[in-house]
Amino acid sequence: MSSDFTALRRRFPVLQRKTYLNSGSYCALAESVRAAINAYMDDRVLMGANWDVWVTKNEAVRAAMAEVLRVTPAEIAVTASASAGLNALASALDFTGRRNKIVVSDFEFPTNAQIWHAQEQRGARVVHARRAADGYIPAESFAGLIDEETLLVAVTYVCFRNGAKLDIPGIVRLARAHGARVLLDCYQAVGAVSVDVRALGVDFAVGGMLKYLLGTAGIGFLYVRAELLPQLIPANSGWWAQENIAAMDITANRPAASARRFEAGTPAVVNCYAAEAGLKIILEVGTDAIEARVRELSRRCMDGLEEIGWAAVTPARDDRRGPMVAIASRDAAGLFAHLMQQDIVTSFRDANIRATIHFYNSEDDIDTFVAAMKGERAAFQPGGGR
Ligand SMILES: Cc1ncc(COP(=O)(O)O)c(C=O)c1O
Repeated sequence: MSSDFTALRRRFPVLQRKTYLNSGSYCALAESVRAAINAYMDDRVLMGANWDVWVTKNEAVRAAMAEVLRVTPAEIAVTASASAGLNALASALDFTGRRNKIVVSDFEFPTNAQIWHAQEQRGARVVHARRAADGYIPAESFAGLIDEETLLVAVTYVCFRNGAKLDIPGIVRLARAHGARVLLDCYQAVGAVSVDVRALGVDFAVGGMLKYLLGTAGIGFLYVRAELLPQLIPANSGWWAQENIAAMDITANRPAASARRFEAGTPAVVNCYAAEAGLKIILEVGTDAIEARVRELSRRCMDGLEEIGWAAVTPARDDRRGPMVAIASRDAAGLFAHLMQQDIVTSFRDANIRATIHFYNSEDDIDTFVAAMKGERAAFQPGGGR
C-alpha cells in the first residue's frame, strides 16, 4: 500500500500544468493508463488482433472491480456504462405484481431516475424522496415512501449536483424492514470513498471507470449480490452474457450463472486496458487511505471557503460529504470560465461550481482554488459577495 501522495501526484502529468479539481467529471490521466492504451495500440499495429490476451482483459477488470467493492468477481458485470448496467438489471425485474414501486431521490443523476421511469410502461411506479428544508435528504425522508409495495430503492451515494452523501445504512435499514431491495449508484464516490457494498448492505451497485476509478469513458460495472443472481434473468442479453460464450447456440438463451449474465456483446477492449490500469492504482493506494486523504482535502476546501465568506452548499458534516465541494454562484458558467482562465479546472451543474477532489490533489491545489474564489466573489457570489 502506497500513500506518499507527493510521489503519486507525479504520475499524473496534467497536474503540473493545471489545478485539476475535476475528477468528478473525468479523472486526470495517469502515465500507466496512457501506457496501457498504447499497449493495446501496439497489439493492433504489430499483430492486428490479439484476442487471446484481449479476452483476459475483461476478466482482469472484473477481478479488480470486485476487489475495490470487496466482493467476488462472480458478482460483477463489466458494462459499457452505469446506464447499461441499470437497464440490464431493470430488464430482469418484474413490475406486474403488487410490489412494483421504485423509490428514487431528488439527488439522482438523471439516468438513475429516467431508466426507472422508463419501466412505467412495464408496470413500475416511481416515487421521489424530496429534499428537506436544509437541502439534505435524511433517511427519514424515505420512511413514508418505502413500504410492502416497494420493489427497489435506487439511490445515489453522493449527489452530482451538490456533493451531499446520503445515509445509505439508514436507507438500507428501512428497505430491509419492508423486504425491498436497494441499488446504490456510487459513481460520484467509488474510487475516492471506500464503497464496501456488503458492509453497506446494498443488493446492487452501479458506477463507471472514467471518474475516481482513473480509467476511461465507455466502461462501467454492475454489482449484483450473489444470493440474488439465480432469480434474476435479464431480458437484455447477448452472446457474451451466455454461460458458454463459445457455444454459438441460436436455439436458446442460457445466461451465465454469474453476474456476467448482465453483460451483452463484445467488450470494449481498449477501455478494458485503461480501466485495468486505473483500478490497479486505486488498489495500490487503497480506498481507505484515499478516503482519508480526500476527506482531509475537502475539509480544507470547506474551511477555506467559509473563511473567505463564500460557504459551500455541500453539507459541512464529514459523514455527509464525499469528494465534491459545491459552491453556489450567480453565474456558474461564467465563474467556471474565469477559473479556467487561471488554469483551475472545475465543472458546474445548475447554479453550482463543483470542485471534485482526488488523492492526487494537494493542499496547494485547494489553496489556489480558494484564493481564486476570493478574487471572484464580487462578480460571482450570490448577493454580490457583500
Ligand atoms: C452519479 C452518476 N450516475 C450515473 C452517471 C452516468 O453514468 P453513465 O454515463 O456511465 O451511464 C453519472 C455520470 O456522470 C453520475 O455522476
